[in-house]
Amino acid sequence: MMRLWKAFSLAALRVLMVVAAALVAMTALEAQPARPRPLLAAADLRPSTSLDGQWNYSIDPYRDGMGGFHGGSAGTGHRRYDDVDVSAVTAADPLALYEYDLDHSPVATLPSSWLTHDPTMRHYEGLVWYQRRFAAAPIAGMRQFLRFGAVNYSADVYLNGRKLGHHEGGFTPFAFEVTGLVRKGDNRLVVGVDSERNPASVPPLVTDWESYGGITRSVSLIETPATYVDDAWIRLGRDGRIAVDVTLDGAGAAGQAVRFAIPALGLKLDGHTDGAGRWTAHIPAPRALHRWSPDSPSLYDVTVEAGADHWRDRVGFRTVEVRGARILLNGRPIFLRGICMHEEELGSDPTRAITPAAARALLTEVKTGLHGNFVRLAHYPHSEVTTRMADEIGLLLWSEVPVYWLIAWDNPETLARARAMVAENILRDRNRASIILWSVGNETPIGDARNAFLGTLADDVRTLDPDRLVTAALLTGRKEQDGHAVMVMADPLVAKLDVMAINTYNGWYTGDALADLPKIGWQTPADKPLIFSELGADALAGFHDPATKRKFSEEFQADYYRQTLAMAAKIPNLVGMSPWILKDFRSPRRQHPVYQQGWNRKGLISETGRRKQAFDILAAWYAERAKALP
Ligand code: GCU
Repeated sequence: MMRLWKAFSLAALRVLMVVAAALVAMTALEAQPARPRPLLAAADLRPSTSLDGQWNYSIDPYRDGMGGFHGGSAGTGHRRYDDVDVSAVTAADPLALYEYDLDHSPVATLPSSWLTHDPTMRHYEGLVWYQRRFAAAPIAGMRQFLRFGAVNYSADVYLNGRKLGHHEGGFTPFAFEVTGLVRKGDNRLVVGVDSERNPASVPPLVTDWESYGGITRSVSLIETPATYVDDAWIRLGRDGRIAVDVTLDGAGAAGQAVRFAIPALGLKLDGHTDGAGRWTAHIPAPRALHRWSPDSPSLYDVTVEAGADHWRDRVGFRTVEVRGARILLNGRPIFLRGICMHEEELGSDPTRAITPAAARALLTEVKTGLHGNFVRLAHYPHSEVTTRMADEIGLLLWSEVPVYWLIAWDNPETLARARAMVAENILRDRNRASIILWSVGNETPIGDARNAFLGTLADDVRTLDPDRLVTAALLTGRKEQDGHAVMVMADPLVAKLDVMAINTYNGWYTGDALADLPKIGWQTPADKPLIFSELGADALAGFHDPATKRKFSEEFQADYYRQTLAMAAKIPNLVGMSPWILKDFRSPRRQHPVYQQGWNRKGLISETGRRKQAFDILAAWYAERAKALP
């Protein structure tokens, strides 16, 4: 009997141990942010077939292509993604009923949001079907992938009538393997793009920017060897060594010979991947290495050879860290002379199509016009065109996910979505020297659920990229003391951040007289760097009112900047700022018929690049700052 009991107890113990291990593994899994698969790091530099250009499109406001009106799946003649030549089918069968025909639908040039396809689509929020026919000649033994730079807000992707998958999130890349599905000759790629957000979305339903629904960044067909470099993370560590983390994907990933090289430095290092297809190396930085900085944006071609795959990127080597209340770049304290930017090109009718020329025009106005060294890319991950351009011309960047205002903090799906966006953003851009700050939120109301949500995102950032700084744009409390206002930072999230960031609009959204702004006090933890991540006031370019300096006049905005900068100069741990915002931008919330007409006018330049009076005030202030602390 005793022996039987003993055997039972051992078996029960084993079961308990298995269950406990499974629970630990699940927790550990939750501790690890989801990694996109395939990642295809530096995909924009791989040889590829561009699928940009002419696409057919057809709107589907009632989502007829997604399902029948009594529920159930969409029927023949409604499934926009079917691999059929509608005109041929209906010519052969006069009784066939199709209520769409993408081959003969209107044509748009992509990448582009749909609000410029035709005027009736400006405020359309819903489903639009896009189709691209393309010829391919897949090489046997190679692998093929379809990669999307970004589709806003969600995408359902079909190739030759077959569902490849779904992606949610309008600002980060995603890819589907199509090996064996892409055919020699003609192919039919159909994408259902849905801009509609819901209370569980990231960003939420209400923001202060134009939606810009559509396929807004490049689409490409990429071919790789059977085993390829899916990720290669290369950076200069604070220990002065170059760190390399390579991940291969494919049957030959394990035990594969790899070679890392920086030709310009004569650096070459050979190794072999482990059983999981991973190789990590640390190399003392060669003496000839020029560190990257805004004043000297040195970039190096780096390569990883693995079997038949030749992977490359262009990387700048620098370090960033916090020491006390200072931010150090390459070991030296810096002041961030910045400005905010939305992803919107210059021009009277932007469509969020960021070409290298568009990115260069905006970033040059910051660097040369404003004497800036920093840009906050608000409020979502911007195009890789922009982050690479910042690497090239020498600007430091703040990159963020659209965890903005009223997020569904209690919804596990919303958290999973935000974590995926953090991972997709960091894994796309962690080779970019320009990025020094990852932000996990903007102006989110303090609360237990929000603190936990953002705390998880901050932990994910540190897991994915321990070499950069974590921040978030926060709100402050306010009290009156000795006859003047004191702004109080009392956000528990600060403990999870390397850098505190505050959005302040005293004098625009408050009743403060501009003359009183310099007297406003700031009560924040003194041992942590502080950035003003937003400050600003609206002005309609060309609207002048020197007599009363009313709001929306250039004179008001100029005075607002004079007084706010005087206030900023008195804050000892203020190590930078990114005023809101470089350029007027489209926002459906801003509908004053004279001053706004659907634009947020806090830009220092108009939508067409016309500088306002306040531009020169900030530029002069930064020029002085640059002399004191580059
Ligand atoms: C907020 C918000 C911005 C918005 C700005 C404004 O702080 O972060 O997205 O556009 O203020 O009110 O203009």
